Amino acid sequence: MVKLVWEDKNNITSNIDKLKKKYLSDFKKIEILSSSSETHAKKKNFSYKWKNKLFWGENLDVLYYLLNDFEEKIDLIYIDPPFFSGSNYHIKIKDNDLHYDSIAYYDHWEKNIDSYLQMLYERIILFKELLSKKGLIFIHIDWHASHYIRAILDEVFGQNRFVNHIVWYYYNKYSAGKRNLPRGHDDIMCYSKTSNYTFNEIRIQRKKPRKQLKREMVNGVLKNVKGEDGHVVYRIVKDKKMDDVWKIPCMQPASKEWTGFPTQKHHKLLERIIKLGSNEGDLIADFFCGSGTTVLIAEKLKRKWIGCDISEYAIYLTRKRILNFQNNLKETLFPFEVYTKLTEDRQKLLDSSFFNKDLSIKRKK
Ligand SMILES: C[S@@+](CC[C@H](N)C(=O)[O-])C[C@H]1O[C@@H](n2cnc3c(N)ncnc32)[C@H](O)[C@@H]1O
Repeated sequence: MVKLVWEDKNNITSNIDKLKKKYLSDFKKIEILSSSSETHAKKKNFSYKWKNKLFWGENLDVLYYLLNDFEEKIDLIYIDPPFFSGSNYHIKIKDNDLHYDSIAYYDHWEKNIDSYLQMLYERIILFKELLSKKGLIFIHIDWHASHYIRAILDEVFGQNRFVNHIVWYYYNKYSAGKRNLPRGHDDIMCYSKTSNYTFNEIRIQRKKPRKQLKREMVNGVLKNVKGEDGHVVYRIVKDKKMDDVWKIPCMQPASKEWTGFPTQKHHKLLERIIKLGSNEGDLIADFFCGSGTTVLIAEKLKRKWIGCDISEYAIYLTRKRILNFQNNLKETLFPFEVYTKLTEDRQKLLDSSFFNKDLSIKRKK
Protein backbone atom coordinates (compact mmCIF):
# COMPACT_ATOMS: atom_id res chain seq x y z
CA MET A 1 0.00 0.00 0.00
CA VAL A 2 0.98 3.64 -0.40
CA LYS A 3 2.57 5.17 2.73
CA LEU A 4 3.50 8.74 3.39
CA VAL A 5 7.07 9.41 4.54
CA TRP A 6 8.39 12.49 6.36
CA GLU A 7 11.50 13.37 8.30
CA ASP A 8 11.62 11.69 11.72
CA LYS A 9 8.42 9.73 11.12
CA ASN A 10 7.91 7.64 14.23
CA ASN A 11 5.28 5.00 14.83
CA ILE A 12 5.01 5.31 18.58
CA THR A 13 3.36 1.97 19.28
CA SER A 14 6.36 0.32 20.96
CA ASN A 15 6.14 2.85 23.82
CA ILE A 16 2.38 2.86 24.45
CA ASP A 17 2.38 0.62 27.53
CA LYS A 18 5.21 2.51 29.21
CA LEU A 19 3.58 5.88 28.57
CA LYS A 20 0.12 4.72 29.73
CA LYS A 21 1.64 3.97 33.13
CA LYS A 22 3.70 7.14 33.18
CA TYR A 23 0.66 9.42 32.75
CA LEU A 24 -1.67 7.51 35.07
CA SER A 25 -0.78 9.52 38.15
CA ASP A 26 -0.31 12.87 36.40
CA PHE A 27 -3.87 14.14 36.00
CA LYS A 28 -5.72 15.49 39.02
CA LYS A 29 -9.41 16.22 39.29
CA ILE A 30 -9.73 19.92 40.09
CA GLU A 31 -13.52 20.32 40.01
CA ILE A 32 -16.81 18.43 39.86
CA LEU A 33 -19.58 20.60 38.49
CA SER A 34 -23.36 20.35 38.84
CA SER A 35 -25.19 17.95 41.11
CA SER A 36 -28.76 17.18 40.08
CA SER A 37 -27.72 14.40 37.77
CA GLU A 38 -28.30 11.13 39.46
CA THR A 39 -32.06 10.81 39.32
CA HIS A 40 -32.28 12.13 35.78
CA ALA A 41 -29.58 9.79 34.53
CA LYS A 42 -31.28 6.90 36.32
CA LYS A 43 -34.60 7.81 34.74
CA LYS A 44 -32.95 7.64 31.33
CA ASN A 45 -31.50 4.25 32.20
CA PHE A 46 -27.90 5.39 31.86
CA SER A 47 -25.23 4.47 34.34
CA TYR A 48 -25.59 7.31 36.83
CA LYS A 49 -22.04 6.83 38.02
CA TRP A 50 -20.74 8.37 34.80
CA LYS A 51 -19.30 11.88 34.84
CA ASN A 52 -18.36 13.80 31.70
CA LYS A 53 -14.73 14.87 31.58
CA LEU A 54 -12.96 18.04 30.55
CA PHE A 55 -9.15 17.89 30.39
CA TRP A 56 -7.05 21.02 30.48
CA GLY A 57 -3.72 19.98 29.02
CA GLU A 58 -1.65 18.56 26.19
CA ASN A 59 -3.86 16.04 24.45
CA LEU A 60 -1.06 13.53 23.80
CA ASP A 61 -0.62 13.10 27.57
CA VAL A 62 -4.40 12.88 27.99
CA LEU A 63 -4.66 10.17 25.34
CA TYR A 64 -2.06 8.02 27.11
CA TYR A 65 -3.82 8.64 30.43
CA LEU A 66 -7.21 7.64 28.98
CA LEU A 67 -5.86 4.46 27.44
CA ASN A 68 -5.71 3.04 30.95
CA ASP A 69 -9.53 3.01 31.25
CA PHE A 70 -10.99 3.88 27.86
CA GLU A 71 -9.42 1.50 25.39
CA GLU A 72 -12.13 0.73 22.78
CA LYS A 73 -14.69 2.71 24.83
CA ILE A 74 -15.16 5.93 22.83
CA ASP A 75 -17.90 5.75 20.19
CA LEU A 76 -17.19 8.88 18.19
CA ILE A 77 -14.14 11.12 17.98
CA TYR A 78 -14.30 14.49 16.22
CA ILE A 79 -11.24 16.70 16.07
CA ASP A 80 -10.72 20.14 14.61
CA PRO A 81 -6.96 20.54 15.11
CA PRO A 82 -4.75 23.39 13.89
CA PHE A 83 -4.75 23.19 10.07
CA PHE A 84 -1.06 23.97 9.38
CA SER A 85 -2.18 27.48 8.47
CA GLY A 86 0.99 29.17 9.75
CA SER A 87 -1.06 31.67 11.79
CA ASN A 88 -1.52 32.16 15.48
CA TYR A 89 -5.02 32.99 16.68
CA HIS A 90 -5.35 36.07 18.87
CA ILE A 91 -8.12 37.19 21.20
CA LYS A 92 -8.98 40.39 23.06
CA ILE A 93 -10.00 40.01 26.66
CA LYS A 94 -11.88 42.32 28.98
CA ASP A 95 -11.66 41.48 32.67
CA ASN A 96 -13.50 44.20 34.66
CA ASP A 97 -11.52 47.33 33.77
CA LEU A 98 -8.53 45.43 32.45
CA HIS A 99 -8.20 44.99 28.67
CA TYR A 100 -5.49 42.81 27.19
CA ASP A 101 -4.61 40.72 24.12
CA SER A 102 -3.58 37.09 24.21
CA ILE A 103 -3.00 34.14 21.91
CA ALA A 104 -5.89 31.70 22.00
CA TYR A 105 -3.83 29.04 20.23
CA TYR A 106 -0.84 28.52 17.95
CA ASP A 107 -0.68 27.06 14.44
CA HIS A 108 3.03 27.59 13.73
CA TRP A 109 5.31 24.64 13.10
CA GLU A 110 9.02 25.08 13.58
CA LYS A 111 10.01 22.08 11.53
CA ASN A 112 7.33 22.69 8.98
CA ILE A 113 5.01 20.03 7.63
CA ASP A 114 7.13 17.16 9.09
CA SER A 115 6.47 18.10 12.70
CA TYR A 116 2.81 18.86 11.95
CA LEU A 117 2.27 15.45 10.35
CA GLN A 118 4.08 13.65 13.18
CA MET A 119 1.89 15.52 15.68
CA LEU A 120 -1.32 14.26 14.05
CA TYR A 121 0.05 10.80 13.17
CA GLU A 122 0.84 9.83 16.75
CA ARG A 123 -2.51 11.09 17.97
CA ILE A 124 -4.40 9.27 15.20
CA ILE A 125 -2.70 6.00 16.24
CA LEU A 126 -3.97 6.53 19.80
CA PHE A 127 -7.47 7.60 18.66
CA LYS A 128 -7.79 4.23 16.97
CA GLU A 129 -6.92 2.46 20.22
CA LEU A 130 -9.60 4.44 22.06
CA LEU A 131 -12.38 4.00 19.49
CA SER A 132 -14.99 1.36 20.22
CA LYS A 133 -15.71 -1.38 17.68
CA LYS A 134 -18.77 0.52 16.44
CA GLY A 135 -16.81 3.80 16.48
CA LEU A 136 -16.24 6.50 13.88
CA ILE A 137 -13.60 9.21 13.70
CA PHE A 138 -14.10 12.59 11.99
CA ILE A 139 -10.97 14.66 11.30
CA HIS A 140 -11.65 18.24 10.28
CA ILE A 141 -8.92 19.88 8.19
CA ASP A 142 -8.57 22.01 5.06
CA TRP A 143 -6.54 22.36 1.85
CA HIS A 144 -3.27 22.95 3.74
CA ALA A 145 -2.87 19.29 4.72
CA SER A 146 -6.02 17.28 3.94
CA HIS A 147 -4.27 15.35 1.14
CA TYR A 148 -1.62 14.11 3.60
CA ILE A 149 -4.03 13.34 6.41
CA ARG A 150 -6.15 11.14 4.15
CA ALA A 151 -3.01 9.06 3.41
CA ILE A 152 -2.20 8.83 7.13
CA LEU A 153 -5.76 7.70 7.90
CA ASP A 154 -5.51 5.04 5.18
CA GLU A 155 -2.29 3.80 6.79
CA VAL A 156 -3.58 3.73 10.38
CA PHE A 157 -7.21 2.66 9.86
CA GLY A 158 -6.89 0.87 6.51
CA GLN A 159 -8.15 2.04 3.11
CA ASN A 160 -11.23 -0.12 3.49
CA ARG A 161 -12.23 1.80 6.63
CA PHE A 162 -12.75 5.02 4.69
CA VAL A 163 -16.37 6.09 5.11
CA ASN A 164 -16.65 9.62 3.68
CA HIS A 165 -14.78 12.74 2.72
CA ILE A 166 -17.31 15.37 3.79
CA VAL A 167 -17.03 18.79 2.19
CA TRP A 168 -18.21 21.57 4.46
CA TYR A 169 -19.13 24.34 2.02
CA TYR A 170 -19.30 27.62 3.94
CA TYR A 171 -20.69 30.20 1.65
CA ASN A 172 -20.42 33.21 3.92
CA LYS A 173 -16.68 33.47 4.59
CA TYR A 174 -14.67 36.05 2.67
CA SER A 175 -11.76 34.44 0.86
CA ALA A 176 -9.52 36.57 -1.35
CA GLY A 177 -8.02 34.70 -4.26
CA LYS A 178 -6.22 36.71 -6.94
CA ARG A 179 -4.35 33.84 -8.58
CA ASN A 180 -6.62 31.06 -7.38
CA LEU A 181 -10.32 30.54 -6.87
CA PRO A 182 -11.58 31.75 -3.48
CA ARG A 183 -11.42 28.79 -1.09
CA GLY A 184 -14.89 27.99 0.16
CA HIS A 185 -14.73 24.65 1.95
CA ASP A 186 -13.11 22.54 4.67
CA ASP A 187 -12.61 18.77 4.55
CA ILE A 188 -13.86 16.32 7.15
CA MET A 189 -12.44 12.81 6.78
CA CYS A 190 -14.52 10.04 8.30
CA TYR A 191 -13.11 6.55 9.00
CA SER A 192 -14.49 3.61 10.98
CA LYS A 193 -12.76 1.26 13.39
CA THR A 194 -14.48 -1.88 12.02
CA SER A 195 -16.99 -2.61 9.28
CA ASN A 196 -19.79 -2.69 11.87
CA TYR A 197 -20.09 0.99 12.80
CA THR A 198 -23.00 3.19 13.89
CA PHE A 199 -24.43 5.10 10.96
CA ASN A 200 -27.79 6.84 11.12
CA GLU A 201 -29.43 8.09 7.96
CA ILE A 202 -30.11 11.82 8.04
CA ARG A 203 -32.71 13.36 5.74
CA ILE A 204 -32.76 17.02 4.83
CA GLN A 205 -35.56 19.20 3.45
CA ARG A 206 -35.61 19.83 -0.30
CA LYS A 207 -36.04 23.43 -1.43
CA LYS A 208 -39.10 22.38 -3.43
CA PRO A 209 -41.13 19.15 -3.15
CA ARG A 210 -40.39 16.80 -6.05
CA LYS A 211 -42.49 14.22 -7.94
CA GLN A 212 -40.69 10.87 -7.92
CA LEU A 213 -41.42 7.38 -9.22
CA LYS A 214 -42.53 5.10 -6.39
CA ARG A 215 -40.17 2.12 -6.21
CA GLU A 216 -39.98 -1.07 -4.15
CA MET A 217 -37.52 -3.89 -3.62
CA VAL A 218 -38.66 -7.18 -5.22
CA ASN A 219 -36.33 -10.15 -4.64
CA GLY A 220 -33.40 -7.80 -4.13
CA VAL A 221 -34.12 -5.75 -7.27
CA LEU A 222 -35.49 -2.19 -7.18
CA LYS A 223 -38.64 -2.01 -9.32
CA ASN A 224 -41.17 0.68 -10.21
CA VAL A 225 -44.47 0.23 -8.38
CA LYS A 226 -47.44 -0.09 -10.75
CA GLY A 227 -51.07 0.74 -9.94
CA GLU A 228 -54.12 -1.43 -10.65
CA ASP A 229 -54.36 0.22 -14.07
CA GLY A 230 -50.81 -0.97 -14.89
CA HIS A 231 -49.34 2.56 -14.87
CA VAL A 232 -46.33 3.62 -12.81
CA VAL A 233 -47.17 5.37 -9.54
CA TYR A 234 -45.68 8.69 -8.42
CA ARG A 235 -45.14 10.16 -4.96
CA ILE A 236 -44.28 13.65 -3.73
CA VAL A 237 -41.01 13.82 -1.75
CA LYS A 238 -40.17 16.79 0.46
CA ASP A 239 -36.80 15.61 1.77
CA LYS A 240 -33.74 13.68 0.59
CA LYS A 241 -30.90 11.62 2.01
CA MET A 242 -28.10 13.92 3.16
CA ASP A 243 -25.04 13.62 0.91
CA ASP A 244 -21.38 14.46 1.59
CA VAL A 245 -21.48 18.18 0.67
CA TRP A 246 -22.81 20.19 3.60
CA LYS A 247 -23.84 23.78 3.08
CA ILE A 248 -23.59 25.32 6.54
CA PRO A 249 -22.47 28.89 7.28
CA CYS A 250 -19.39 29.89 9.26
CA MET A 251 -20.13 31.19 12.73
CA GLN A 252 -20.79 34.92 12.70
CA PRO A 253 -20.39 37.35 15.63
CA ALA A 254 -24.11 38.16 15.34
CA SER A 255 -25.05 34.57 16.28
CA LYS A 256 -26.21 34.05 19.85
CA GLU A 257 -23.94 30.99 19.95
CA TRP A 258 -20.82 33.06 19.15
CA THR A 259 -18.20 32.80 21.91
CA GLY A 260 -15.43 35.01 20.50
CA PHE A 261 -13.08 32.04 20.18
CA PRO A 262 -11.31 32.06 16.79
CA THR A 263 -12.28 29.16 14.48
CA GLN A 264 -15.34 28.22 16.55
CA LYS A 265 -17.29 25.72 14.46
CA HIS A 266 -20.99 25.97 13.72
CA HIS A 267 -23.22 23.96 16.08
CA LYS A 268 -25.19 22.65 13.04
CA LEU A 269 -22.05 20.98 11.73
CA LEU A 270 -21.52 19.12 14.99
CA GLU A 271 -25.21 18.26 15.26
CA ARG A 272 -25.02 16.45 11.93
CA ILE A 273 -21.81 14.62 12.80
CA ILE A 274 -23.00 13.46 16.21
CA LYS A 275 -26.46 12.41 14.99
CA LEU A 276 -24.94 10.60 12.03
CA GLY A 277 -22.41 8.54 13.96
CA SER A 278 -23.83 7.97 17.44
CA ASN A 279 -26.91 7.30 19.55
CA GLU A 280 -28.14 8.60 22.91
CA GLY A 281 -25.87 7.44 25.72
CA ASP A 282 -22.83 6.94 23.43
CA LEU A 283 -19.48 8.45 24.39
CA ILE A 284 -18.20 11.32 22.21
CA ALA A 285 -14.72 12.87 22.45
CA ASP A 286 -13.02 15.98 21.09
CA PHE A 287 -9.33 16.35 21.96
CA PHE A 288 -8.95 19.81 20.38
CA CYS A 289 -12.24 21.11 21.75
CA GLY A 290 -11.62 24.90 21.57
CA SER A 291 -14.73 26.73 22.72
CA GLY A 292 -16.45 23.39 23.39
CA THR A 293 -18.89 23.15 20.46
CA THR A 294 -18.62 19.35 20.22
CA VAL A 295 -19.13 18.65 23.90
CA LEU A 296 -21.99 21.14 24.15
CA ILE A 297 -23.82 19.47 21.26
CA ALA A 298 -23.04 16.03 22.73
CA GLU A 299 -24.57 17.23 26.02
CA LYS A 300 -27.66 18.62 24.20
CA LEU A 301 -28.10 15.37 22.27
CA LYS A 302 -27.81 13.29 25.48
CA ARG A 303 -24.48 11.73 24.66
CA LYS A 304 -21.67 11.31 27.20
CA TRP A 305 -18.54 13.31 26.43
CA ILE A 306 -14.84 13.86 26.99
CA GLY A 307 -13.27 17.18 25.97
CA CYS A 308 -9.68 18.36 26.04
CA ASP A 309 -7.79 21.52 25.20
CA ILE A 310 -4.44 22.97 26.11
CA SER A 311 -5.62 26.59 26.19
CA GLU A 312 -7.07 28.05 29.38
CA TYR A 313 -9.38 30.25 27.27
CA ALA A 314 -10.79 27.16 25.58
CA ILE A 315 -11.40 25.51 28.94
CA TYR A 316 -12.89 28.74 30.31
CA LEU A 317 -15.40 28.91 27.42
CA THR A 318 -16.22 25.20 27.31
CA ARG A 319 -16.86 25.09 31.02
CA LYS A 320 -19.02 28.22 30.83
CA ARG A 321 -21.06 27.01 27.84
CA ILE A 322 -21.86 23.68 29.50
CA LEU A 323 -22.77 25.31 32.81
CA ASN A 324 -25.02 27.87 31.06
CA PHE A 325 -26.78 25.11 29.18
CA GLN A 326 -27.28 23.03 32.34
CA ASN A 327 -28.50 26.04 34.32
CA ASN A 328 -31.03 26.99 31.63
CA LEU A 329 -32.30 23.44 31.43
CA LYS A 330 -32.50 23.21 35.23
CA GLU A 331 -31.53 19.57 35.06
CA THR A 332 -28.36 17.75 34.24
CA LEU A 333 -27.93 14.44 32.54
CA PHE A 334 -24.47 13.95 34.02
CA PRO A 335 -22.17 16.14 36.09
CA PHE A 336 -18.77 16.94 34.63
CA GLU A 337 -15.33 16.96 36.12
CA VAL A 338 -12.32 19.04 35.15
CA TYR A 339 -8.87 17.43 35.17
CA THR A 340 -5.42 18.86 34.70
CA LYS A 341 -1.75 18.13 35.25
CA LEU A 342 -1.08 20.84 37.82
CA THR A 343 1.88 23.03 36.94
CA GLU A 344 2.91 26.15 38.82
CA ASP A 345 1.29 28.38 36.17
CA ARG A 346 -1.96 26.48 36.19
CA GLN A 347 -2.09 26.53 39.99
CA LYS A 348 -1.63 30.31 39.89
CA LEU A 349 -4.48 30.67 37.43
CA LEU A 350 -6.72 28.48 39.60
CA ASP A 351 -5.79 30.51 42.68
CA SER A 352 -6.91 33.65 40.83
CA SER A 353 -10.39 32.03 40.30
CA PHE A 354 -9.82 32.45 36.57
CA PHE A 355 -12.59 30.03 35.56
CA ASN A 356 -15.19 31.81 37.65
CA LYS A 357 -14.42 35.26 36.28
CA ASP A 358 -16.82 37.10 34.03
CA LEU A 359 -14.51 37.65 31.06
CA SER A 360 -15.50 39.09 27.73
CA ILE A 361 -13.51 37.32 25.00
CA LYS A 362 -13.47 38.63 21.45
CA ARG A 363 -11.68 37.43 18.37
CA LYS A 364 -8.89 39.82 17.39
CA LYS A 365 -8.85 40.46 13.65
C1 LIG B 1 -9.41 24.92 15.59
S1 LIG B 1 -9.45 25.08 17.33
C2 LIG B 1 -10.88 24.15 17.77
C3 LIG B 1 -12.15 24.96 17.65
C4 LIG B 1 -13.37 24.19 18.11
N1 LIG B 1 -13.74 23.18 17.17
C5 LIG B 1 -14.56 25.12 18.36
O1 LIG B 1 -15.67 24.90 17.82
O2 LIG B 1 -14.39 26.08 19.11
C6 LIG B 1 -8.12 24.05 17.78
C7 LIG B 1 -7.90 23.90 19.27
O3 LIG B 1 -6.90 22.92 19.48
C8 LIG B 1 -6.20 23.26 20.67
N2 LIG B 1 -4.92 22.53 20.66
C9 LIG B 1 -3.89 22.67 19.78
N3 LIG B 1 -2.90 21.81 20.06
C10 LIG B 1 -3.31 21.10 21.15
C11 LIG B 1 -2.72 20.06 21.92
N4 LIG B 1 -1.53 19.56 21.61
N5 LIG B 1 -3.40 19.58 22.99
C12 LIG B 1 -4.64 20.08 23.31
N6 LIG B 1 -5.24 21.07 22.60
C13 LIG B 1 -4.59 21.57 21.53
C14 LIG B 1 -6.06 24.77 20.60
O4 LIG B 1 -5.83 25.33 21.87
C15 LIG B 1 -7.41 25.16 19.99
O5 LIG B 1 -8.32 25.51 21.00
